[in-house]
Formats: sequence, C-alpha cells, structure tokens
Amino acid sequence: MSSQEQRLAHHVAIVTGASSGIGIAVAEALGLAGAAVIVNYHSQDKPAQELVDRLEKAGGRARAVKADVSKEEDVLRLFDAATDAFGRVDLLVANSGVQKDAGIAEMTLADWNTVIDINLTGQFLCAREAVRRFRAQDKAKRPARSAGSIIAMSSVHEVIPWAGHINYASAKGGIRMLTRSLAQEVAADGIRVNAIAPGAIRTPINKEAWETEAALEKLLTLIPYGRIGEPEDVARAAVWLASDEADYVTGTTLFVDGGMTLYPEFRDNG
Ligand code: BGC
Repeated sequence: MSSQEQRLAHHVAIVTGASSGIGIAVAEALGLAGAAVIVNYHSQDKPAQELVDRLEKAGGRARAVKADVSKEEDVLRLFDAATDAFGRVDLLVANSGVQKDAGIAEMTLADWNTVIDINLTGQFLCAREAVRRFRAQDKAKRPARSAGSIIAMSSVHEVIPWAGHINYASAKGGIRMLTRSLAQEVAADGIRVNAIAPGAIRTPINKEAWETEAALEKLLTLIPYGRIGEPEDVARAAVWLASDEADYVTGTTLFVDGGMTLYPEFRDNG
C-alpha cells in the first residue's frame, strides 16, 4: 500500500461499539489505513471477530474485545487489552451509542439512564483513560505528531433539538461540551480532541427512517445533499481526523451530514 493509504501506520486505535453500524466501518477504515485496531463490542461478538479476521487477512493487526463502556472496570480492561496486544494506544474513537426513544411522559428513568450512561458517561470514561495513557507513554515512540487523539462520535443532535429523544439529544449536547472542554484541558499535552457529528447514516439504529421508500422520501426532505449517508462517509472523515493531516485540528466538531444542520426547511421559507 502507498504511504497515503497507510496514513495511520504504527498507530494503535481503540474503537468502541465496533460490531455494527458506524463503528464497524470506522474500525475497518482505520485498520486499512495501517492502524492496529481494538474492535470493541458489547454483545455481538460475531461481526467483531469477522472484522478482525478481514483485517488480518488484509495484512493488518486487530483484536476483538468485549467491554461495556459504561462500566469503569470494563474500560480499564479494554485499554489494558490494547497495551497487552499492541504495546500502546494512540487513538480512541468513542463511538458506542444507543437510542431508547420515548416522549417525555413515557420515558422511564431506565431509558434516560441507559442512554446517558452509554452515550455520555461511557465517552467520559474512555476519554479519561485515553488521556491517562497518552500522558504516560514514551514521547520518542509516538507514531503521530500529536501525543494522542480522541474522536468522540457525536451527532447532528448535538445542535438539532429532537422531540421524543431527549435522552439522546441531551447526551449528544453533552458530548459537544465534553469535546471542547477536554480539548482545551489537554491541548498543552499535545493531545487532540474532536468530534464527528453524523447526520442520517444508513445503520441499524435508524432503520425505521430509511427501510421503506416512504420513510426514506420523508427523511430526504431533511438532507439538502439528497442522499442518506453511508457508514463509509463517516469512516473516511475519521481516518482524516485521526491522521497527521489534521494535526492542527482540535476542539471542533466535523459535521458529516449532507447539510442536515443547514436548516433545509428555510430554503423556500422564512
Ligand atoms: C441518530 C439517527 C438519526 C440521525 C439524524 C443520529 O444521531 O442516531 O437515528 O437518523 O441522528 O436525525
């Protein structure tokens, strides 16, 4: 492979929630760009292991590791698995996320807590551990210009309010400030912290919004670019953001949303 294709050579990456959807595509793209990848999963071991096999066949290095990102001891184990297998950690993609949708009156405390625990606290736990490890690592052995990089998987709902999904939107709004505050805190250590905010991407989490023609047509009224996103659209952005090409980028959110955040309903109104 050319050096351009191996932009992440010698990097060690952890991708959480990498057994489906955006996470699996990101983990695969990082691996194909040369990174050794810890493919984290919560319950679906088969697709995680299949991805590891695919990456190894392509000449890469990968391991599947089961862990619940909302549990402190699991997160420590996940990072230990990376250092045991590959000697270090250079990149965290904190991607795990779930939806438990309900109107406020019907939303149970369990629905609220599950989403906050995984989508927000889980990202805090992983980011905290990443910073600890990045700071402790030998500077001379860095594969990148930065001392480490964190990519938080956010959503357009870090800025777009979403009725019927207040747990999810609140967690993503929290990710927006977690990203910025942490970036400010650790920039002097040479650590970069950014977020990617996908719009509507064709994955299992939002199947209802694209699986029928009628649903897709309705969804497309929200997307100026005129198509639903694919997981690979997000994966390419993640590879770039993780690489030295983005070395001067920190504390920002990269929207990968076909223009969903551009208030499309104002095109011919207002
Ligand atoms: C949600 C999807 C939704 C998309 C755009 C994502 O963060 O997980 O369910 O389709 O935002 O609204």
